[in-house]
Amino acid sequence: MPAMNRSHMTLALLVAVAVCALPAGAQVTADREATLSDYHGYFPCMDCHGDQETIATPRILEEEHFEPLEWEDDDGVTHLVPFGKKLAIGDLLGEEGSVPTPSDKLARIGARLNIASYMDRNGLSPADSVWTLVHGGGNLWCLDCHNADDRDKLVMQNGDLLTFNQSQFLCGSCHGPVLEDWTVGIHGKTVGFWDPAVGDEEETVRMMCVECHDSHRPAFRSMMPMPAPVLRIDGPGARSDHKKEAAH
Ligand code: HEC
Ligand code: HEC
Ligand code: HEC
Ligand code: HEC
Repeated sequence: MPAMNRSHMTLALLVAVAVCALPAGAQVTADREATLSDYHGYFPCMDCHGDQETIATPRILEEEHFEPLEWEDDDGVTHLVPFGKKLAIGDLLGEEGSVPTPSDKLARIGARLNIASYMDRNGLSPADSVWTLVHGGGNLWCLDCHNADDRDKLVMQNGDLLTFNQSQFLCGSCHGPVLEDWTVGIHGKTVGFWDPAVGDEEETVRMMCVECHDSHRPAFRSMMPMPAPVLRIDGPGARSDHKKEAAH
C-alpha cells in the first residue's frame, strides 16, 4: 500500500473532525407527514378521530385499520401496510386459567386482547383468525405510541408528544442503544450529500427507523434465498461438482 502523503493525511483528519463534530440534531430526516398524507391518505388522523370514541384498552380492530392498506410510491413500487399479523385464534389461546409465560408470545398477545371473551362476543371459534399487533411480543398496544387525544401526534413513555417526523425518538425511548447507534451512523443509512458541513445545495438525510422497519411489524420478513451466482467453472470459488462436470 502506498504511504499517505501529507495532503492526504490532512484531508483524512479533516474528514474525521467533520464527522465527529456533526451535532446529532443537525441531521435531516424525511418529511413523514407528507408521506402519510400523500401515500397512505391517513393524515391528518383527526379527520376521522376528532369526534370518534376512543377505546383505550387492547382490542382487535375491525374496521379502518383492519385489512392491510396498499399504496404505491413514486417509483411505482406497491407497499402493504398491515397493522400486524393475521393469527389463528387457536394459537392465541394459552392454557385455560394459566398466566402465559414471557416466552409464549402468542398466548401473551391473546391474554392482552382478552381473546376468550372476544370469541364469545363475536361467536368465533379457535379455527378463525384475527389481525393483531405483533410488535413487542404482546406487550404493546396502539395507544402506547399514538396519543389518544390527538391522533396526529405520537406519545413517548414519559407523556411527551412527538410529530411523525420525530418518530425515531419514540423508537429510541424503548430501543435506546439502537437510537444511539443510529445517531452516530452505525445503525441505519445516510443518503444524499456525504458531508453535511459543506454546502447546503444537497442535503444529508438520515433514513428514519420507519423507512426500514414497519412500526407495527418491525421485524424483517424472511427472504427467499436466490440461487448462487454463476461462476467461471475453473475460477476461484467454483464448486467442486462443477469442476467434476467440466472434467467429463
Ligand atoms: C378514515 C378514517 C380514519 C383515519 C383517517 C384514521 N383512523 Fe384510526 N380508527 C378509525 C376507526 C373507524 C377506528 C376504530 C376501528 C375498529 O374498531 O376497527 C380507528 C381506531 C384507531 C386506533 C385504535 C384505538 C381506538 O381509538 O380505538 C388507533 C390507535 C388509531 N385508529 C390511530 C390512527 C392514526 C394514528 C391515524 C393517522 C395516522 C388514524 N388512526 C387515521 C378511523 C380512522
Ligand atoms: C411502537 C409504536 C406504535 C404502535 C404500538 C402502533 N403504532 Fe401506529 N404508527 C407508529 C409510527 C411511528 C407511525 C408513523 C409511521 C411512518 O412515519 O411511516 C405509525 C403510523 C400509523 C398509521 C398511519 C399509516 C401507517 O401505517 O403508516 C396508522 C393509521 C396507525 N399507525 C395506527 C395504529 C394502530 C391502529 C395501532 C394499534 C393496532 C398502532 N398504530 C400501533 C407507531 C406505532
Ligand atoms: C414501548 C416500547 C417500544 C417502542 C416505543 C418501540 N418498540 Fe420496538 N420493541 C419493543 C419490544 C418490547 C420488542 C420485543 C423484544 C423481544 O421480543 O425480544 C420490540 C422489538 C422490536 C424489533 C425487533 C423485532 C424482532 O422480532 O426481531 C424491532 C426491529 C423494533 N422493535 C423496532 C422498533 C421501531 C422502529 C420503533 C419505532 C417506530 C419501535 N421499535 C418502538 C418495544 C418498543
Ligand atoms: C437503513 C435501514 C434501517 C434503519 C434506518 C434502521 N434500521 Fe433497525 N435494523 C435494520 C436491519 C437491516 C436490521 C437487522 C434485521 C435482522 O437481522 O433481521 C435492524 C435491526 C434492528 C433491531 C433488532 C436488532 C437489534 O439490534 O436490537 C432493532 C430493535 C432496530 N433495528 C431498531 C431500529 C431503530 C430504533 C431505528 C431508528 C433509530 C432503526 N432500527 C433504523 C435496518 C434499519
